[in-house]
Amino acid sequence: MKPIVILGVFVADTAYRADRQPKMGETILGHSFVLGPGGKGSNQSVAAAMAGGDVHFITRLGADPFADMARATWAKGGVTPQVKVDAASYTGAAYIFIEAATGNNAIIISPGAASRISAEDVEEKADLIRGAGVFITQLEQPIPAARRALELARAGGAKTILNPAPAAPLDDDLLGLCDFVTPNESEAEALTGLPVTSVAEAEVAADALLARGVGAVVMTLGDKGALYRDRTQSFHVPVISAGPVVETTGAGDAFNGGFAVALAEGRGMLDAVRMGCATAGISVTRPGTAPSMPARAEIDELLKRSFG
Ligand code: RIB
Ligand code: NA
Repeated sequence: MKPIVILGVFVADTAYRADRQPKMGETILGHSFVLGPGGKGSNQSVAAAMAGGDVHFITRLGADPFADMARATWAKGGVTPQVKVDAASYTGAAYIFIEAATGNNAIIISPGAASRISAEDVEEKADLIRGAGVFITQLEQPIPAARRALELARAGGAKTILNPAPAAPLDDDLLGLCDFVTPNESEAEALTGLPVTSVAEAEVAADALLARGVGAVVMTLGDKGALYRDRTQSFHVPVISAGPVVETTGAGDAFNGGFAVALAEGRGMLDAVRMGCATAGISVTRPGTAPSMPARAEIDELLKRSFG
């Protein structure tokens, strides 16, 4: 299996569980606090490595305790780091509000050193990226770096995945470099200006993205599962439940990691989307983001239980 190369951000997740968010000028008491590893690119790397991929993660860290947390996370998850240390900056952090009643989240992320990832950083890893079977990036680091990496991956024949999170305006040239875009509902709304509150609306929004040049749209739909749509096929996979939902933060990252491994293994689209859904379905039954990613055996067992 060829390597899965991921460009993106690590941050320390600082997760506060509370009944609601404070209003401006207000202080409220929360129920709990958890510090753990996060950042979409790092989470996706851990998910893909735990699911059996040979994963290389390109990023920047500061020289501080959160950088130590990053390295420990990758060592445990089986991710090969491709890191530039930027001692003049800091390893980033995310504020995560988790609504106690629902487990839903709202996030502020400050990527620190990773917000200085450059097209030149990417160029230094050109051989690795060109040799990838699958390449993934997100939008937590600067877009010029994402663009250069997608160009290199495309030139090398990798399957390219853009997880457009957090949502940002994207030009058609960039979208044209993507074999797959994997927005959630709100990111799809932001990218297309169309509402996405049902599978039918998701199909319309997916068509708008296909018209802008992406190869395929794989839209994650929260408790409605995921939609796959390209120019020749379209299908919907409902949520694959592994138990009661504890925390949905990082579910999209779990999906992308599982989906990428199936692609790297040369599986068909239905199998790949199911693998993404199963990976996400397990991750939401556990607290945290990277620490909640399942091992391959757990994913296979859930898929067997669900589909035989
Ligand atoms: O996708 C979830 C992640 O988004 C969290 O780990 C947080 O760090 C933010 O980057
Ligand atoms: Na989780």
